[in-house]
Amino acid sequence: MNLRDQLDSPLFTHFIANYTHPTGPDLLARTEAFFQWQESRRQTGLWPYSRSLEGAPTAECGVRSEGGVARHGVNFGSQDYLSLSTHPAVVEAAHRAIRDYGVHSGGSGMFGGNTTPGLQLEQALGEHLEMPYVALFATGWGAGFGAIAGLVRPEDHVVLDALSHASLQQGATAATQKVSRVPHLSNRAMRRKLQELRANDTANGILVVTEGLFSMDSDIPRIEELQNLCHEFGATLLVDVAHDLGALGPRGTGSLGAQGLLGKVDLVVGSFSKTFSSNGGFVATRSPAVRQFVRVMGGPHIFSNAILPVQAAVALESLRIVRSEEGEVLRTKAMENILALRAAFAEGGVKCLGEPSNVVPVPVGDPKVARVAGKLVFERGVFPNMVEYPAVRIRESRFRMQVMSSHSVEQMKLGAEVVLRAVAEAREFVEAPQQSPLRAARVESGKRVEV
Ligand SMILES: Cc1ncc(COP(=O)(O)O)c(C=O)c1O
Repeated sequence: MNLRDQLDSPLFTHFIANYTHPTGPDLLARTEAFFQWQESRRQTGLWPYSRSLEGAPTAECGVRSEGGVARHGVNFGSQDYLSLSTHPAVVEAAHRAIRDYGVHSGGSGMFGGNTTPGLQLEQALGEHLEMPYVALFATGWGAGFGAIAGLVRPEDHVVLDALSHASLQQGATAATQKVSRVPHLSNRAMRRKLQELRANDTANGILVVTEGLFSMDSDIPRIEELQNLCHEFGATLLVDVAHDLGALGPRGTGSLGAQGLLGKVDLVVGSFSKTFSSNGGFVATRSPAVRQFVRVMGGPHIFSNAILPVQAAVALESLRIVRSEEGEVLRTKAMENILALRAAFAEGGVKCLGEPSNVVPVPVGDPKVARVAGKLVFERGVFPNMVEYPAVRIRESRFRMQVMSSHSVEQMKLGAEVVLRAVAEAREFVEAPQQSPLRAARVESGKRVEV
């Protein structure tokens, strides 16, 4: 059976969400339906996830699909925004840390897992954010989850921007059932929600959660307004700066720096897994009490091994570069690429979403078109991330192209050209049959046309 014959089958019409609530008493056996669906996508080249890089996350690299198909081409799928993961000084810092501290953190941060590079990283990050008390976590996920789960009790409320990252959403639902979501970036809806909550409950806490840069839409909230709302209604603001810190803003201070808010928001959480070319995360606060509370009560800090010394050393050296003249040059180069990519799409008639950042979301819409286009771009050696429901709304599938300093403007033009052509071909493939009288005739006689 060819792909066109399957356009109305689960291969194209189902999403991960169709399989998230399997039923039956056998927890293991009931994973099978999802696996079969995923396998059919893998075998037809329509499963663009869980690919492997065959080298460093450089602008050009080898990529292997989960189905085992290898291609070489332009990498738009890595979040090494300033290309620091292969920077000689960062690699040297990693070697030094391994030589001096070994490759293990040996325990959780509570039980001997802290190391000198970690302490230095806390200090440097505190200075960078003007939030002197920093708690480290083994992942950014753990930092977001742990900050919320640590501070919020079942009587308290959490109000999230509806598009907040899964770590924040899950932290909220783990902490309390009193979770609300307001429409994305709507400070007006946030005001209404805070008004409503405070009218009914003056005794408990309210945590407001947003991000410095939303990574599926590349848009940014008006953070000062949110912080003022929090002051007005006795709420606390948490901003997750995973994607913008280091990559945007003056001296890489992200959206907080760009909006003149360094040291002025209640809580900042973030990750080293993007610009800082490492793994790990942090919670930053102006209060020593909050830092200690989140460390001990948050879960992931106390019950996971600490960030590795080599990870901390890499993040620390990356932070040094982020804050230096060289960091400014790398951000300028990345922005030149970002603007070139967005311009190339605009020339091709497609307006990228949001504001210029290292994440360039290219709207596709129809998830069937996105799946076919995702297969075509991979085969043609261009590797963006394809994003579909439930990560975005069902008719809002898109390519998320991640731009790094080490890309060239030529690669931006090539990337846009290949994606635009693939989407046009995929649209024709998906839509033409329904409109074609030829297809109707063939369908009636029980046959269909090969692509
Ligand atoms: C907003 C946000 N927070 C947290 C994380 C998780 O970070 P990490 O990869 O360090 O676990 C991500 C990464 O996808 C993110 O986008």
